[in-house]
Amino acid sequence: MYKRTEMEKIVVLTGAGISAESGIRTFRDGDGLWKTHHFADLATPDAWRRNPELVLEFYNDRRKQLLEVEPNAAHFALTKLEKKYDLHIVTQNVDDLHERAGSSKVLHLHGELRKARSTINPDLIYNIDGWELKLGDKCEKGSQLRPHIVWFGEPVDDFEKAVEIVSCADLLLVIGTSLVVYPAAGLLYHTKANIPIYLIDPGEPKFSQTSNLTFIQDKAASAVPKLVEQLLDKGF
Ligand code: APR
Repeated sequence: MYKRTEMEKIVVLTGAGISAESGIRTFRDGDGLWKTHHFADLATPDAWRRNPELVLEFYNDRRKQLLEVEPNAAHFALTKLEKKYDLHIVTQNVDDLHERAGSSKVLHLHGELRKARSTINPDLIYNIDGWELKLGDKCEKGSQLRPHIVWFGEPVDDFEKAVEIVSCADLLLVIGTSLVVYPAAGLLYHTKANIPIYLIDPGEPKFSQTSNLTFIQDKAASAVPKLVEQLLDKGF
């Protein structure tokens, strides 16, 4: 009986580091956002209650910058993997650079900067035209719109979906994340046993290398295209 060979599944977990070379600040690097801003005043439900204008301004500034930057070689390289593998991206990033580079299966664990959602019904989600979301911008039910971002202390609704994706991976790439924010960082522990895992980050190794864990201490825009070529040429 003819058996369709299943395409091998590659899952890519990305963090702010993959967008750094596009000009978007990370959070915990030297010049990271949380080095110059207090996340408790900007990225929590309490911050929204206390000062919604400040929160809206913080995300408006980031959205305005996002409209001025482009995906980098790492984002584009990942789209090439879709030719040969069943590729799923699970990202902690709220930018849309994976989509703009052409990736077709992207799951945003922490929300999306270019979307807003109702404060009365979180299932009402809207694209934001342009960069600005203002007080007085309302959903169809008449309630204020908020950034469609998972703030600290809020549940990561798509985590179980991400676990399901990662648990089916035949290979896992982890690119540009400090792996300090859970539950996202815990996804590493939901893979099948002994699948190849590559960690790409120019910072100090977070794990010691093992038989199936390879640490590539390099920036994403140079390391990801090289690894993609290797995976396309030689498989894994
Ligand atoms: N290429 C690859 N990695 C890089 C690069 C680069 N050019 N530049 C920096 N990095 C690495 C850093 O060494 C660091 O390990 O990217 C990582 C960025 O870590 P964080 O700033 O903590 O970003 P991230 O891991 O995505 O944060 C997770 O925290 O604040 C919350 O919701 C926010 O999604 C975010 C989450």
